[in-house]
Amino acid sequence: MENGVAVRHKGVFTAEVLSNQQIRECYYRLNLVLDPIGSRFFEQVVPGQFLEIDLSGLSLPPERHIPAELRDIAARQVLLRRPFSFSDVVTTPTQDGPCVKLEIVYCVLGPATLRMMTLKSGDVLSLIGPLGNGFKIFQTLKLAVLIAGGMGAPPLLHLGGYLRRHFPAVETICFAGARSCEDLPFTLKIGNLTGLVVDEFDTLGVASQVATDDGSAGFKGFVTDCVRHWLENHTIKPEETMIFACGPEPMLAGAARLAADFGLACQVSMERMMACGIGLCQSCAIEVKKGKTDETEYKLCCKDGPVFDSRNVIFQVQP
Ligand SMILES: Cc1cc2nc3c(=O)[nH]c(=O)nc-3n(C[C@H](O)[C@H](O)[C@H](O)COP(=O)(O)OP(=O)(O)OC[C@H]3O[C@@H](n4cnc5c(N)ncnc54)[C@H](O)[C@@H]3O)c2cc1C
Ligand code: FES
Repeated sequence: MENGVAVRHKGVFTAEVLSNQQIRECYYRLNLVLDPIGSRFFEQVVPGQFLEIDLSGLSLPPERHIPAELRDIAARQVLLRRPFSFSDVVTTPTQDGPCVKLEIVYCVLGPATLRMMTLKSGDVLSLIGPLGNGFKIFQTLKLAVLIAGGMGAPPLLHLGGYLRRHFPAVETICFAGARSCEDLPFTLKIGNLTGLVVDEFDTLGVASQVATDDGSAGFKGFVTDCVRHWLENHTIKPEETMIFACGPEPMLAGAARLAADFGLACQVSMERMMACGIGLCQSCAIEVKKGKTDETEYKLCCKDGPVFDSRNVIFQVQP
């Protein structure tokens, strides 16, 4: 038995911007409310699914707000929709049906996300979704180990809240890693007993630990080494435990190796450049094992993923 599989229906909807706030130097939090039909489609959305937003009509922010390293590419046209996952989805029942609010945490790193900085309350966006297959939650799950690398954090924040709401008996701990403290899309604070924790997870009632490559916050080293250390010092029942990982591919490959070393199941949310987002253009291929044979085949990240069983993925880079 499993929960968390994708909602099969998708469509093109509008969403109104409620707010768009800067949370760290290059990170913003965008809150949207979907139109009534879109709300029906997104009501059952699960963590790990995503949407594609049309940002082609937006203008660039004033030059003084464009980071120096992005000035050369800022003026490039934004023809294709851009994929984003959710850090939170809240559904409120109303007399006219559900009203769905989405939260997206985005990192400004190119022409489309630069334009997103200019979004303000009342602006209306066109989006396609919900897309892809999210994380699967098995009924046997008792311990969820979340591993977030850099911008991989948003869907795991959604997953943390989803588990608290729908599977309160599941013990959940999130390990958030980044190159350095400034690269974490989170607010850090000192926990009561545990040292540095992530405020956003703490608010949800989810335990957390921080790792940075340069040691500027929390554990010094790769987040997967931090998890390894934690697993070595805890009694884990593999049949009741699942790793959920989202972040850069070397980190996902590291999570897959960690899971194999400890005999744990692991789901990884893969990232590929996406053009159409709906399985038409073939631009987001992922090499996976074909059944139990040594042969491989290609699946589409946007349609068959982005979440895959880590044992099936042929990673393009090693941890
Ligand atoms: C399923 C999915 C969910 C995502 N969720 C989020 C999210 O919640 N928050 C967020 O900030 N971003 C998310 N992204 C990434 C986001 O789509 C890109 O950052 C965005 O499209 C960049 O657009 P741009 O025009 O600003 O920059 P671009 O010029 O398109 O890209 C800037 C740089 O980022 C790299 N890049 C862009 N997209 C990807 C990708 N998909 N995989 C690997 N490298 C990439 C490019 O190679 C380039 O070097 C997600 C991507 C996918 C596929
Ligand atoms: S993005 Fe077009 S097939 Fe996946």
